[in-house]
Amino acid sequence: MKKHIALVPGDGIGVDIVAEAVKVLDRVQKKFGHEFTYSTYLAGGCAIDATGKPLPEETLKGCKESDSIILGSVGGPKWDKLPSDIRPEKALLGLRGEFGLFCNLRPAIIYKQLSAACPLKPEIVGEGLDIMVVRELTGGIYFGERGRDENSAYDTMSYTVAEIERIVRKGFEIAQKRTKKLCSVDKANILNSSQLWREVVERLAFEYPDVALSHLYVDNAAMQLVRNPRQFDVIVTGNMFGDILSDEASQITGSIGMLPSASLREDSFGMYEPIHGSAPDIAGKDIANPIATILSVGMMLRYTFGLIEEADAVEEAVSKVLDASYRTADIFTEGMKRVGTKEMGSLIAQAL
Ligand SMILES: NC(=O)c1ccc[n+]([C@@H]2O[C@H](COP(=O)([O-])OP(=O)(O)OC[C@H]3O[C@@H](n4cnc5c(N)ncnc54)[C@H](O)[C@@H]3O)[C@@H](O)[C@H]2O)c1
Repeated sequence: MKKHIALVPGDGIGVDIVAEAVKVLDRVQKKFGHEFTYSTYLAGGCAIDATGKPLPEETLKGCKESDSIILGSVGGPKWDKLPSDIRPEKALLGLRGEFGLFCNLRPAIIYKQLSAACPLKPEIVGEGLDIMVVRELTGGIYFGERGRDENSAYDTMSYTVAEIERIVRKGFEIAQKRTKKLCSVDKANILNSSQLWREVVERLAFEYPDVALSHLYVDNAAMQLVRNPRQFDVIVTGNMFGDILSDEASQITGSIGMLPSASLREDSFGMYEPIHGSAPDIAGKDIANPIATILSVGMMLRYTFGLIEEADAVEEAVSKVLDASYRTADIFTEGMKRVGTKEMGSLIAQAL
């Protein structure tokens, strides 16, 4: 298979970790006989420095000409004081909006090798945890009408039936491929947009009779995630609720450097990135954990290129390296072998 991939490392550790993801992809192409080519583009703070814009035209054009995007992370203290329309984060919203990446998949998995890092009691987590948060990414309050004057400000949460249908269908379809359990999260006791959300979910449920559907209000869902996370398999929800719940779910795994994400549009084109930020405190020091980005590459192989065997191989390689006790600083515990960003990337590539 021939594919061209846009690399958008961004700022801070984005540069360190995307390099390791490419190392692993290069190994995948050799092992499985594919041809992956890459072009690298600016976005975020580095793009502001170079062009004055967080998302330059050249980056958008290059991403449009590619089969998929791998993003590192954007932002840092250097650009924190800029006005909101030219801040690095604008690049993220711009890419999501421009490509219609409405479906954000965020798996929260506790690796058995890292179970000690989970902040919850062992009896709550049991054998492990594997939750998939399916978050709507291009609608809701982050994209609604907004405004402010000196004394007031407002943001609008609005959803159309079509926007709800397409993300909820993704939720049902993913649940069908897993344990056939779907929990829809809303705030239907208060919000009009959530009442519409719930009506659409209940109507679509008739088309997926094999999936056991439940509903939770978002405040209860936040509580249940720490009280009894094992009740969840797939969670489908709107943009802001998904943002908050997926961060909460990721923290339960205890390792922000381990968690990947995919942002997809209808035709399976996608942008893949770790869930963490640019970690300016450790940028360029060969300390950052590249595994979240490497697992994001695994998601790209699975969801955009349909290369299931290759995706499984990447995940198994990560597991093998953890089994062999190699750890970056963020997941290091006594008795393990501490390695840097580059060595971790090389070990995973070799394990492939
Ligand atoms: N998608 C994105 O690009 C994205 C997401 C979140 C934050 N940000 C931006 O990143 C910057 C820093 O934000 P923050 O500090 O709140 O969050 P962060 O995720 O960058 O860092 C939080 C903590 O986790 C550590 N950490 C993060 N990733 C790690 C990794 N791979 N390996 C080891 N340790 C890791 C950091 O060192 C830091 O101590 C801000 O400018 C923020 O706006 C960007």
